[in-house]
Amino acid sequence: MRSEKIEDVLVVKTEGNASYDIVLRESFDNLPDYLQSVGCEGHRVCVVTDSNVAPLYLAEVQKLASACCAQIETYIFEAGEEHKTLDAIRGLYTKLIESGFDRKDFLIALGGGVVGDMTGFAAATFLRGIRFIQIPTTLLAQIDSSIGGKTGVDFDQYKNMVGAFHQPCLVYSNVSVLKSLTDEQFASGMGESLKHGLILDAGFYEWQIDHMSEIEERDSATLLELVSRNCQIKRYIVEKDPKEKGDRMLLNFGHTLGHALEKCKEFRMLHGECVAIGFVAAAYISWQRGLLDEDEFYEIRDMNVGFGLPISFDGVASQAIVDAVKKDKKMDAGKIRFVLLKKLGRACVDTTVTEQEMLEALRLLNADERE
Ligand code: GLY
Repeated sequence: MRSEKIEDVLVVKTEGNASYDIVLRESFDNLPDYLQSVGCEGHRVCVVTDSNVAPLYLAEVQKLASACCAQIETYIFEAGEEHKTLDAIRGLYTKLIESGFDRKDFLIALGGGVVGDMTGFAAATFLRGIRFIQIPTTLLAQIDSSIGGKTGVDFDQYKNMVGAFHQPCLVYSNVSVLKSLTDEQFASGMGESLKHGLILDAGFYEWQIDHMSEIEERDSATLLELVSRNCQIKRYIVEKDPKEKGDRMLLNFGHTLGHALEKCKEFRMLHGECVAIGFVAAAYISWQRGLLDEDEFYEIRDMNVGFGLPISFDGVASQAIVDAVKKDKKMDAGKIRFVLLKKLGRACVDTTVTEQEMLEALRLLNADERE
C-alpha cells in the first residue's frame, strides 16, 4: 500500500458497514462537535485516564465534553503497564454502576495505549458493551493502539491475554500533545511507526528516514503527516482483516520477540523499544534466509539509533526470551507465528522459524552474550 497526502479525517469501515472517524487536529477545540456527531448529547460520559495524563489534559477535555453531555464523570487509573489488570477494571465498573450508567452512555479513553486498551475492554464488557471514544495522547496510541478495536488487559504478566474486539465510535487525536511527550515515549511510538513502513509501505519507510530531523524536532506539519500516514496504513489493515485472521498478523512484525523481551524485562523497557529490538532480530533472520540483503539489514538496525531506539539489550538471557515466546498467544497449533520481511515494505507470516534462528538473532543484540 502507499500512504500519501495528509488526510485529517479518515473514515474507518468496520464489519457490518458501521464506520468511525479518526480525526486529526492540533488542539482539542473541535471535540464538542465530534462528540455531538457520535450522539453523546444528552448522555452520561465517563472520561477515563491515568495518573500521568490527568494533570495535563483531563480538566480541558472534561470542560469541552460537558458542553454537550448530560453528565460527566471521571475515573483515573494508576499509570503503568503493571496496573493493566482485571482488578483495575473492577474499580471502573463500580464507578459506572454507582453513577447509573446505562447502555446508551459512553466512555472516553484519554491517554496512551494502556488507558485505551483498558477503557475499551471496560466498554466492551460493561452491560455487554457500551460505546467508547478514543482520545489518544501518545504517538503509539495515535498511530496504532487506538485504531482497530483491540481491547484488553494483561493477565499474570501475559500481555493482552484477556480481551475483546470492540470498535471505538470516534478517535480524536490532538497531535500537538505529542510535543510534550518524553523522548523515550516518543521513540517508543516511532518503533511502531517504522514497523508500519517496513511491513507495508517502503515509500513511507524512506520518508521517515528522509525526515528524521523534522520528526525528531517534532515539527507540527511533519507530525501531522507522520500520524496521518500511519493511520492510513493501520486503517488499510484493520479494514481488510478486522479480527486478525490474516493480514493483520503482519502488524506483529517485531512483536514475537518484542513481547517476550518486554515480559522478561518486567515492563521496564517501553513497548516500542522492545518492538524495535524484535524487528531488528526479525530483519536479521530475514537476511540470513536470503530475503533481505546485508545493507538492508544494517540500514534497518542503524536507523533505530537515529530515532532514539535501542539496538541492543541486557539483563536477560536470550534463552529466557525464547522460552517466553513459547508461552505467548502468537502461536498457531503449537507453532510460533513469526513475521519476516520479504523485502522492504513487504512482510509475510512464517511458522518455520526455529528456536536456533531466534537465539542467534537475539545473541547478536544481547550485550551480555555477544562475543
Ligand atoms: N497493534 C496491532 C494490532 O492492532 O493488530
